[in-house]
Amino acid sequence: MDKLLIFGGRPLKGTVTIGGAKNAALPIMASTLLSSGIHHLKRIPRLRDVFTMAELLKRMGAEITIENDTYKINTKSIFNFEASYDLVRTMRASILVLGPLLARFGKAKVSLPGGCAIGERPVNLHIVGLEKMGAKIDLQEGYIFAKANRLRGTKVYFDIPTVTGTENIMMAASLAKGTTIIENAAKEPEVVDLANYLISMGAKINGAGTSIIEIEGVNELIPPKTYEVIPDRIEAGTFMVIAGASGGDILIKDCRTEFLEAVILKLKDAGVVFRETREGLRVIGPKKPNAVNIKTMPYPGFPTDMQAQFMAMMTIANGTSIIKETIFENRFMHVAELRRMGADISVEGNTATVRGVKQLKGAPVMATDLRASASLVIAGLIAEGKTIIDRIYHLDRGYEELDKKLISLGAKIERLKK
Ligand code: EPU
Repeated sequence: MDKLLIFGGRPLKGTVTIGGAKNAALPIMASTLLSSGIHHLKRIPRLRDVFTMAELLKRMGAEITIENDTYKINTKSIFNFEASYDLVRTMRASILVLGPLLARFGKAKVSLPGGCAIGERPVNLHIVGLEKMGAKIDLQEGYIFAKANRLRGTKVYFDIPTVTGTENIMMAASLAKGTTIIENAAKEPEVVDLANYLISMGAKINGAGTSIIEIEGVNELIPPKTYEVIPDRIEAGTFMVIAGASGGDILIKDCRTEFLEAVILKLKDAGVVFRETREGLRVIGPKKPNAVNIKTMPYPGFPTDMQAQFMAMMTIANGTSIIKETIFENRFMHVAELRRMGADISVEGNTATVRGVKQLKGAPVMATDLRASASLVIAGLIAEGKTIIDRIYHLDRGYEELDKKLISLGAKIERLKK
């Protein structure tokens, strides 16, 4: 397993370009199953999760060719309707094939994802929604066995605004008979990007980006000429925190600031300065950040996917920061590792109290999930001395060449191959 060796203590300066959004690319790739044809998707990030989704589609019979960041996905001969445990356990987003398979082929066998480092993460809302649309679903031997004649439109209300749940129902509803209304839908930009791809295939969707989405089913979807996925807001946010925490000065290219309003406001409170320029967004970090409180919320609230990175910055802030995680019940795995580097953090329930210390000290630490890994990288960059991060395969799931991008900004990092 690869490790990252980081020599910390340098302000990061230079230019970085943001890649395509992982959490938009994955559902859009899954949505290619809804239509028989050749899909041209651009700005697909080079990430382990994306390769896993490609492998899943290939095993179903899709033919995929990749040229730079463009994927050509041919879904004309899909013959296998199964997402097996060996793939689903490495990537929960595999559940996104359930809605499309059921809608186009009337059958699917998808492994239940099971727990995950950040929480239990059930998929009950996906299942109940599809059942309401007429699917017959059995859970057997760790698999979801789903069958349907043509799905039919209905009202689906989510108790919690689930991102992939909203995406699964929206995809299924695109080919259903009649109109589906999703209430308390997730409003994340990635849901909107998927809706835009579906619309470009001929789907009739209104309200994506609000809490009520209306989908009028059509008989057939046809791939557009090409489609470009939105840039990754979490990658951009991570670089903003890197600039803020390291006292750096980073020009971020291809950053959609409208997707990051909560993060930018909190970073401004912490003393980070933002300047819109022609080439991109310039982010300038303070000498030492101010302590700021955050509470994670569904979009447009502060994203849970930025909580760990923000906490790394707060470990060296002036003052005490209160960080509340309301989306996942176990998303503080990075706390124990940050403590090993000298952070002063206590946790009670879903609340972490971070008392800023003068300086973190490098240490060997272990990555536990994707965003926790990013927080350890940030901690390593601002710490004095040497940090070794083990299990960075988590990082490679969601950040495209993060080490290379950081090196180009002046960081001293080595990837230790095993
Ligand atoms: N939930 C249920 N039942 C369900 C579905 C969700 O109780 O059937 C709960 C979850 O346990 C959680 C909450 O609802 O407490 C929200 O979870 P959601 O379903 O929105 O999460 P997700 O769709 O599994 C996506 C992202 C995550 C991101 C979350 C929250 C993708 C592929 N993944 O997950 O991204 O943290 O939304 O914004 O879009 C990451 O990129 O690191 C990552 C974990």
